[in-house]
Amino acid sequence: MISDAKSLMKNITHGVYLISVKSKQQQNAFTAAWLMQVSFNPLLVCFSINPQNRSYKLLKESGVCCISVLNNEQFIEADHFGHSNITDKMQGFNWLKTKTGLSALSDSLAYIECRVDHYSAAGDHQLVICEAINGVVLNNETPMLYNDTENMDNKDSGLKTKD
Ligand SMILES: Cc1cc2nc3c(=O)[nH]c(=O)nc-3n(C[C@H](O)[C@H](O)[C@H](O)COP(=O)(O)O)c2cc1C
Repeated sequence: MISDAKSLMKNITHGVYLISVKSKQQQNAFTAAWLMQVSFNPLLVCFSINPQNRSYKLLKESGVCCISVLNNEQFIEADHFGHSNITDKMQGFNWLKTKTGLSALSDSLAYIECRVDHYSAAGDHQLVICEAINGVVLNNETPMLYNDTENMDNKDSGLKTKD
């Protein structure tokens, strides 16, 4: 058994993203780091989602999501969307409306709008393999690294989140 798996895995280089989802009634977004491109043709992206996330149900309902790439200063956003204890997480941030009616974080580096291709079980998570159907580069700032978020994904993270 690896005793300090969380800090060990932070040495694998990942970016940090907001994945926004929707159903007919609701919108939500969550912070994700376990994401990568997995095919050129078609252009496929894969991320890993905990099925206990509120966003999972919405994703299953609509089959679409939008990945906003965070820059290296957006710790408030990473922390806020990395927790579930807020009723309307989308409030208080600026969003761009995408072609499929999803929300992309307007001051992110880029966004990629995706349609789910299929799911694959992976331990306590689900891998979501999705096709990129639209995307926009918004600026050329430096991306955030997962390693820089330190212990933010521990539930009792010390960072102040937006109410
Ligand atoms: C830096 C960071 C990275 C995270 N990466 C993932 C991830 O890749 N997959 C995942 O399911 N949850 C990840 N989480 C946890 C979710 O963001 C968190 O459980 C969130 O509360 C889910 O929101 P929701 O319940 O509103 O959908 C991460 C959290 C943080 C802070």
